[in-house]
Amino acid sequence: MAIVLGIETSCDETGVGIVADGRLIGAALASSMDQHARFGGVVPEIAARAHLESLVPCVRAAFRQAGITPSELDAVAVTSGPGLATALQTGLAAAKAYALAWDRPLYGVHHLAGHVAADTLEHGPLPSRSVALIVSGGHTSLLLLGDLARDPIVHLGDTRDDAAGEAFDKVARILGLAYPGGPAVDAAARDGDPTAIGFPRAMLGAGHDFSFSGLKSAVARHVERAGPDLVVPDVAASFQEAVVDVLTRKAVDSCLDHDVDTLVIVGGVAANGRLRRVAAERCAAAGVTLRIPPPHLCTDNGAMIAAVGDLLFTGGAPPSSLGLSADPSAPL
Ligand code: KG4
Ligand code: ZN
Repeated sequence: MAIVLGIETSCDETGVGIVADGRLIGAALASSMDQHARFGGVVPEIAARAHLESLVPCVRAAFRQAGITPSELDAVAVTSGPGLATALQTGLAAAKAYALAWDRPLYGVHHLAGHVAADTLEHGPLPSRSVALIVSGGHTSLLLLGDLARDPIVHLGDTRDDAAGEAFDKVARILGLAYPGGPAVDAAARDGDPTAIGFPRAMLGAGHDFSFSGLKSAVARHVERAGPDLVVPDVAASFQEAVVDVLTRKAVDSCLDHDVDTLVIVGGVAANGRLRRVAAERCAAAGVTLRIPPPHLCTDNGAMIAAVGDLLFTGGAPPSSLGLSADPSAPL
């Protein structure tokens, strides 16, 4: 039986989660999203200051919900990278202080491993081999996974330019929709025709890499040309369809190419309604089992970091030192 506290502060969400034997028992989340809205993107200094204010209240709230005290904890896990340097440092400082004060091992966790492990909280352990599509504001990656606590993660493909979530955020801005753009485009697209505009599907049939900056430029050109005749829901739906089409085709192809029968889709963009539906259809057609965590575990949270900490602690991995530092561009 292992009980692990997880702390996530890589971007604008202060996430705290407590996992007991692969099950989420307490969680709290605070966000500085509203404070970044007028800048159209996350301002690192504002995010870091907000984490400082929210961390201790979130930790207290998570313990309250879990109904346990720190004395029952086995380990502390924290995101060490990748992410915004100053934001990561606030979480690391807090996690080290807790680990030291409570005399518990500390585990630095890769943010992307956290996104993948989030799914295990909902659907149990991953099979011995699977493909993960990570689609967030900072990443669009296809990964070949073995045992999360032991085996190296193999990169199959990455975006060559914008991440999928970044494309959603930029297109939302072009369309005058609210920040963050993903949920706003998702909502606007519900009233639109996904076949209204034939936006480009970059790099289809050209390996496992992605490119979204040309699509974003195509949307900008369309908006400029349309002028007052712009139909925002149609543009949102057609843009979303292009992103979803490429993501799901390449993800299913990766499974087939590597003879893997399980696809797990994680990261903020995995909350997208259309992505979830199309992925389900295409996986069913290809005989691939699809796993996507519920939306609240897709976006950044502390539980996903605790989930990796649980795997590391239970698997006997050596803990990190208290000298652990933030690695803003941590490789996998
Ligand atoms: O994983 P996440 O919370 O943070 C990062 O690690 O980046 O992902 C945030 C990204 C943002 O770009 C946001 O616009 C996008 O996920 N997102 C969505 C949806 N919800 C969040 N994109 C499309 N549809 C959504 N429903
Ligand atoms: Zn993330």
